[in-house]
Amino acid sequence: MTDSGRLAIIIGSVREGRFGPVVASWVAEQATTHGGFDVDVIDLADFDVPLVLPAASPKYAGDAYPRPEGMRPLTERLDAADAFIIVTPEYNHSYPASLKAAIDWHFTQWTAKPVAFVSYGGAAGGRHGALHLENVLTELHAVTIRDGLAFPAYFTTWDGGRPLDPTAAGYATTLLTQLTWWATALRRARAETPYPA
Ligand SMILES: Cc1cc2nc3c(=O)[nH]c(=O)nc-3n(C[C@H](O)[C@H](O)[C@H](O)COP(=O)(O)O)c2cc1C
Repeated sequence: MTDSGRLAIIIGSVREGRFGPVVASWVAEQATTHGGFDVDVIDLADFDVPLVLPAASPKYAGDAYPRPEGMRPLTERLDAADAFIIVTPEYNHSYPASLKAAIDWHFTQWTAKPVAFVSYGGAAGGRHGALHLENVLTELHAVTIRDGLAFPAYFTTWDGGRPLDPTAAGYATTLLTQLTWWATALRRARAETPYPA
């Protein structure tokens, strides 16, 4: 295990014919090359994440929260993560409902952990979705990372599974370096003192 621990890269879209796995695969390659983390790519399409939630909030129910059996591996992998990169498209100027559902089924899994964003879409490069996610993750006591990546018009700016922009890898390095710093600091802090949520 590295000092920064485990990085979960979350593919936020579950749509048929989605582009998300292409972006996530490139991000995972950048993270592996960067070397600060053990990398785990989480595809939300692999799990049962219903829209109907239990009556209670996961904030108070803790481990007893009644999640579907098909969500268990997702919850375990979110629990095990020390940092997250959320890979999100933009749907109607926000992020997909699949991602919101996965976020809302959990609470402590996000708390006192750093989260960075890689977005893609049309002209805005998915930035509307990433901005909304920053708001939401703050409510869950996560720490959002300033430097994100946004890929506008991905349908003309990516080829063969990679962005054509030669500066993209450098921006990914900046994001990963900041994420590593926060992950190491917060991992130590969580081990020393329970977070006062
Ligand atoms: C329901 C829906 C709404 C969309 N709204 C936007 C939008 O507001 N802005 C934008 O730039 N792209 C928008 N798009 C285009 C998506 O960014 C594009 O289809 C992208 O491939 C979606 O990611 P995915 O392939 O991983 O699902 C929308 C796509 C869908 C399916």
